Amino acid sequence: MRILGIETSCDETSVAILDVAGNAVRRVFHETASQIPVHAVYGGVVPEVAARLHVAEIVALLDRAIFQRRGRAFDAIAVAKGPGLATALRVGVEAARALAFATGKPIVGVNHLEGHLASAWLVPGNRRQWVFPLLALLVSGGHTELVLMKDFGSYEVLGRTRDDAAGEAFDKTAKLMGLGYPGGPAIAEAAEDGDPTAFDLPRPMLHDASFDMSFSGLKTAIARVWDELPKRKQADKGVVADLCASIQEAIVDVLIAKTVAAAKQVKPTAICIVGGVSANTYLQERMTRAVRRDLEGVRLLAPARGFHTDNAAMIAAAGAWHLIRGESHDWKKMDAEPEMDL
Ligand code: KG4
Ligand code: ZN
Repeated sequence: MRILGIETSCDETSVAILDVAGNAVRRVFHETASQIPVHAVYGGVVPEVAARLHVAEIVALLDRAIFQRRGRAFDAIAVAKGPGLATALRVGVEAARALAFATGKPIVGVNHLEGHLASAWLVPGNRRQWVFPLLALLVSGGHTELVLMKDFGSYEVLGRTRDDAAGEAFDKTAKLMGLGYPGGPAIAEAAEDGDPTAFDLPRPMLHDASFDMSFSGLKTAIARVWDELPKRKQADKGVVADLCASIQEAIVDVLIAKTVAAAKQVKPTAICIVGGVSANTYLQERMTRAVRRDLEGVRLLAPARGFHTDNAAMIAAAGAWHLIRGESHDWKKMDAEPEMDL
């Protein structure tokens, strides 16, 4: 089955065609037009600008996917219908509906978060070790969740952030410190030469028995530390590196502790770390060490480089999970669902 995937939930316009035959997956086409340079000027994603840029890109991407060279056939359409920015999602959904109408092919509306889960499945080695139950740490710009995957399409959210997402904590503190957008990569880079013990920052809910998390208190604490620093120190690269390393350490400490605690309870065969924040090398290293030390026999599955952040290949993959079970939707009734849950 060849699935055309469409992703427009936030700041990446992305189109993919995946060939899925049992456990064999081949990427026939995949292109992402990133809006990050535009939003960086504003220090964050501007929804209206995002939607307009998706409109400008989507037809060109679909045209290249379907008609470039001798053309590429597809059997079904998968589109991210939520969660995300309402006006941005609608661009992808309307494009997908128009295609379903014009071609008569089946269409499936995919949860963007399920797409992130599927991003790890796209790696051939991970597919061979894909044995349920799996525990996913899903860390993106808008979501931070611990998800128990019992089967394809059967998920239980064990814990989630009660306020800001981990990615948001990176983005907001980076903005405060004038490090630019997106904040995660900027803080990670600045943290490289920093001392993670230099600033004593809180680890909210670290010892709480639930698997929920909270990052807004950390953000407030960082803002206070930053405001109290004299201008001279704010301009000191060493001080900024120390603060960034301390921020990264605090966020990673919480993510690791909660993931390990949840894994001890639900005993997954493997842990998947997915979502934009999972691109963080330090988080990957710490998770590798934690799993080796505390979770014997548990494997760690991550997306391939470049597939941590939003992309259409993961949407097509999640679409395949549904289509293979015979599920599809009526394009006439399909709409974006900005507040969609897993
Ligand atoms: O999954 P994603 O592309 O979009 C959403 O679905 O939200 O995630 C974007 C988030 C942003 O908050 C960005 O700062 C963060 O992922 N991010 C990182 C890194 N790369 C991206 N955070 C920490 N370290 C990174 N290397
Ligand atoms: Zn995402």
